[in-house]
Amino acid sequence: MPLVTSADMFRKAYEGGYAIGAFNVNNMEIIQGITEAAKELRAPLILQVSSGARKYANHTYLMKLVEAAILETGLPICLHLDHGDTFELCKSCVDGGFTSVMIDGSHHGYEENVALTAKVVEYAHAHGVVVEGELGRLEGVEDDVRVAAGMGSYTDPDQVYDFVTRTGVDSLAIAIGTSHGAYKFKPGTKPLLRFDILEEVQRRLPGFPVVLHGASSVMPEFVRMINENGGSMPDAVGIPEDMLRKAAGMAVCKINIDSDLRLAMTGTIRRYLAEHPADFDPRQYLKPAREAIKGMVAHKLENVLGCVGKA
Ligand code: G3H
Ligand code: 13P
Ligand code: ZN
Repeated sequence: MPLVTSADMFRKAYEGGYAIGAFNVNNMEIIQGITEAAKELRAPLILQVSSGARKYANHTYLMKLVEAAILETGLPICLHLDHGDTFELCKSCVDGGFTSVMIDGSHHGYEENVALTAKVVEYAHAHGVVVEGELGRLEGVEDDVRVAAGMGSYTDPDQVYDFVTRTGVDSLAIAIGTSHGAYKFKPGTKPLLRFDILEEVQRRLPGFPVVLHGASSVMPEFVRMINENGGSMPDAVGIPEDMLRKAAGMAVCKINIDSDLRLAMTGTIRRYLAEHPADFDPRQYLKPAREAIKGMVAHKLENVLGCVGKA
């Protein structure tokens, strides 16, 4: 099976009241851990590559690793550019075989965002590639861009119809209170997501797939594993899983997860090395890290996304 776009996945997810997991990938072990879990659970998948991941691992290596995962799993997999910030980067991923790109114009003014997104859509659609746009601005860190606390902004539902019709995007990322990274809510406070905004977007765009970025739960067992084995992460609070399940039952068809992968991998490697201080073969610590990713992804597919058996 070749790489697929997310069009069919989103149509079925919307109708079925579940979401597709979009997991960030940077190397072979991460790709293997995610895809082995999805294979066992027959779940459709989006693997996404940030510009930082593409710089780190190289476009061709990532393409070939994802192609290998398709051969090994037989799953429908969509390969997506996460947070493309220029037309040139999106074009390069379209030309290089990705089946989906995100153009994140949320750092620009509204009209500039519309113009840039429409330009990417025109090029991508001419090449059979789908496009995710973004309206509203998430807080947190992505690549070299840090959006400080208080500098994010919720999506304005009054803009979504105009944005989607003028740009022709296939899905829309919205800001309802999630944020990138491990520090989403102040410890001790109650996490708040603006479901009223999601409901209003859904009402204005019936049947249209919505994307939730910054959706890691910052799983406490992995933060603990890091801190018990030499790390010193401050208290971190992520998105409660019941909120993600609720969003998946609404218009949200794509849920982005990166930080939970990082925490699972780093926690497991730290623990392994603390318990085996004389080991120096990378396979010895990467193997349990890959297993931890597989277990964590299986948990998300089953308990959060609801996409088990939908491939
Ligand atoms: O939203 C951003 C993702 O977590 C990717 O992070 O740009 O550091 O690869 P990165
Ligand atoms: P997290 O940092 O919550 O995993 O978000 C990842 C993301 O939105 C990637 O685009
Ligand atoms: Zn994101």
